[in-house]
Amino acid sequence: MSRRPIIAGNWKMHNNKAQAKELIEGILAGIKDLDADKMPEVVVAPTYTALWQVHDLIKNEPKIALSAQNVSQFAKGAYTGEISIDMLADFGVKFVIIGHSERRQMFNETDEAINEKAKAILDAGLIPIICCGETLEQREAGVTDSHIEGQITKALANLTADEVIKSVIAYEPIWAIGTGKSCDAVEANRTIGEIRKVVAKLYSQDVADKIRILYGGSVKPSTIVEQMAQPEIDGGLIGGASLEAESFVALVKGAM
Ligand code: 13P
Repeated sequence: MSRRPIIAGNWKMHNNKAQAKELIEGILAGIKDLDADKMPEVVVAPTYTALWQVHDLIKNEPKIALSAQNVSQFAKGAYTGEISIDMLADFGVKFVIIGHSERRQMFNETDEAINEKAKAILDAGLIPIICCGETLEQREAGVTDSHIEGQITKALANLTADEVIKSVIAYEPIWAIGTGKSCDAVEANRTIGEIRKVVAKLYSQDVADKIRILYGGSVKPSTIVEQMAQPEIDGGLIGGASLEAESFVALVKGAM
């Protein structure tokens, strides 16, 4: 079963216009000479305010795709401060990150909203990157697998098998995000294997074998090769190390 790897940079709330331009130009220069056939799918997720500019700078470069960091579950209307999927599609966005732990924990994003967002994204022909992951307390209490099973089951509710195959899941243990302490690659592989079992139970082994599942949490150029060597890990969702062109390009190369 061959699943094309993904290296996705989640810029979070970083980079104004000038910084976004500098970063994307550095990434473009760094991947220019790489063999497209061997490259992972490279994705960058700028803030909403930088999307248009980044879209403009990458629109002629098939080696890199655009993601948003969030989307409204609603199509349009009186939702002050929200951005619809239609608006993102207009900006050439291909992926949308949903259910990031920072949004779940700080902005009260619920499993139900994440499921509605997944549907809105897929209905518009875009690809959700659905995040899941446990806290340190949950890991220490031994409830990691059951917690993630709940998150995934609720996120995928009422999606068809074809929709799930198109989707991407990102396993991001919360205790590993921004801490510099990556989850051990073998343990990340095991947990992602458990996520695949949940997908197999909900759908089929075929769907579980096809969906791409990434690891996120302090991924660095020094960790990526071991992570990518794990059979269940299909790539990385990267925060800190995606903010410098040099380290992000090193991650892309580490996944080749
Ligand atoms: P870090 O790579 O900074 O740990 O962030 C991971 C993450 O949250 C990506 O979505």
